[in-house]
Amino acid sequence: MPDEKNKQTDDGKQEARSKNPDAKPPARRRRQASKPGRQEEQSRGRQPSAAEGKNRSFESKARPAPRKSPQRTHDVKPTVRHVMELKGKRPIVALTAYDAIMGKLISEAGVDFILVGDSVGTTLLGFDTTIPVTMEDMVRHTAAVRRSNPQCLLVADLPFAEASMSFDRFLDSAKRLMQEGGADAIKVEGGRDLADDIEKLVATGIPVLGHIGLLPQTVKALGGYRKFGSVPEEAESLYTDAISLEEAGCFAIIAEMMEEKVATELAGQIIPPLIGIGSGPNCDGQILVTQDLLGLTAKGVPSFVTPYANLGQDISRALGKYVQDVRGKKTKAR
Ligand code: KIV
Repeated sequence: MPDEKNKQTDDGKQEARSKNPDAKPPARRRRQASKPGRQEEQSRGRQPSAAEGKNRSFESKARPAPRKSPQRTHDVKPTVRHVMELKGKRPIVALTAYDAIMGKLISEAGVDFILVGDSVGTTLLGFDTTIPVTMEDMVRHTAAVRRSNPQCLLVADLPFAEASMSFDRFLDSAKRLMQEGGADAIKVEGGRDLADDIEKLVATGIPVLGHIGLLPQTVKALGGYRKFGSVPEEAESLYTDAISLEEAGCFAIIAEMMEEKVATELAGQIIPPLIGIGSGPNCDGQILVTQDLLGLTAKGVPSFVTPYANLGQDISRALGKYVQDVRGKKTKAR
């Protein structure tokens, strides 16, 4: 079929990709039927033998109260298919993490995916931009989050210029994030210029999260951070980027600092979920830098963030009190 592209499934296989948003992915292979257990035999009407009967009465005394099946508190699965299928059902929620403690807390909060963003450069490593972040940084921080055993999808960011040097370098870096970092998928900043290579990556079995609008890795060329899509040519260009990434097989696309009207329109036009950051409330989901959400930043937060805590202030207060207590010999030091 000439107008069909290939798209990855969760287990890395390819499936025909049509433009029909209602198209259902193929059913998963059924699990092999295993030997029936005692409970199953009983429920099928087979009577237990005398010996089994003895055991049964012993077992019934010793058996603990029937366990309730574990309550799933969050509708979260660590697959790209799950994230894709959430579009139109409920908003997708994602946050960044760079270490095992935050990975655990964020997964327990019930997010749909964690992004190990190259924002690690500005949030934790003390850089002014994300440009100095290296592959070694990304592999190390991704592996740390993976060790927290998150129950959701884990996506790792490709650092500055890794996607632009050659396809081999792009593939090799994506491979490292998955093999050494343990990422389930990678994120890459850029639109139509990268679409052909993204399509090849997806065909290799690497799920890709796109990122359009403000691309923080281009801040030196842009001369600062700003909103995108306020003039028709720019809105049109964003649309072309989004369609190119959709056709390349991205499982979702981040829209950063996009005019709300443009993001709303785009979310309605494309098949993959559009995950907004600073792009208004009408995207298919939202992502934020966790340090911004928690008020744990050195230089304030972007204007579109409403912090849910002020951890920076809490930490300063606790540290100051400890210093005072030690100096005043008021600690309970053992
Ligand atoms: O690096 C990052 O954290 C990001 C998010 C802001 C989307 O790209």
